[in-house]
Amino acid sequence: MKKCTSCNPKAEIEADESIKNIVEEKYDREYYTKYKDNSELKMGKAKERLFRELNLQSGMKVLDIGCGSGETAINIAEKIKPNGRIIGVDLSSQGIEAAQRSAKIFNVENVTEFQKTNATELQFPNNYFDRVISECVISLISDKMKAFTEILRVLKGKGKVVIHDVITWLPLPRSMKEDDEIYCNCVGGAISIEDNTRIMKEAGFVNVQVIDFSDEYRNLLNKLIVVRAIEMEDEEKFQEIMKFVRKKGIGYALFIAEKT
Ligand SMILES: C[S@@+](CC[C@H](N)C(=O)[O-])C[C@H]1O[C@@H](n2cnc3c(N)ncnc32)[C@H](O)[C@@H]1O
Repeated sequence: MKKCTSCNPKAEIEADESIKNIVEEKYDREYYTKYKDNSELKMGKAKERLFRELNLQSGMKVLDIGCGSGETAINIAEKIKPNGRIIGVDLSSQGIEAAQRSAKIFNVENVTEFQKTNATELQFPNNYFDRVISECVISLISDKMKAFTEILRVLKGKGKVVIHDVITWLPLPRSMKEDDEIYCNCVGGAISIEDNTRIMKEAGFVNVQVIDFSDEYRNLLNKLIVVRAIEMEDEEKFQEIMKFVRKKGIGYALFIAEKT
């Protein structure tokens, strides 16, 4: 399956489509549900910090980019109801349908909305949201600048974005960048803290802060990477990936920034 560079707009669409197909397939295979049920994979500390930074108040409008099956959006709904609104967008129809079902179950349908939308083409007016969040999604988007430009556009002045995602401490080996499974685990498209911060600043964000959670999540990420490296059944690739893993190439971070 093709993976594309951000400098080719057509390729960007193909990249997003290919990710969408893989993620849909995972929802089909209940892959995502399986991982959600594995407490090890719940980004507990980063999520806790995300909520602290968001400082949600009743009545706020919040956007969740790549909301998946809506777990965080439902938690946000509880904090911003009865007059607020949390909108989750995702490329996956199955994710959106699961989120809609959860909203019904948790009785927060009146404050939630879930839309099948690409993060790089948001269908909202300028200056619309008080907060934007994203969890493990930016690493899946090839045109990260476009994603951050869109987030900035829909945020109100003084609004805040809080995201957490996989980051790299070393350049990713080619075998990792080119593997769909590693890509879909938010690793193959991850970038360094410096690059992520630079893109956010270039997009127009101010007061960009970073909280490093690498020590908390590296073991978990390494497990996913090593399992896949074994599955590749290619000794050269395996050794290349293991070198990256041993040198602590992968990490995890929370990014907080504001719009002026
Ligand atoms: C690793 S999952 C994270 C889901 C959710 N944020 C969570 O933490 O449970 C990544 C999600 O991002 C979505 N995604 C990937 N690229 C996207 C894009 N360009 N626009 C919107 N959603 C996207 C996928 O469909 C998937 O549901």
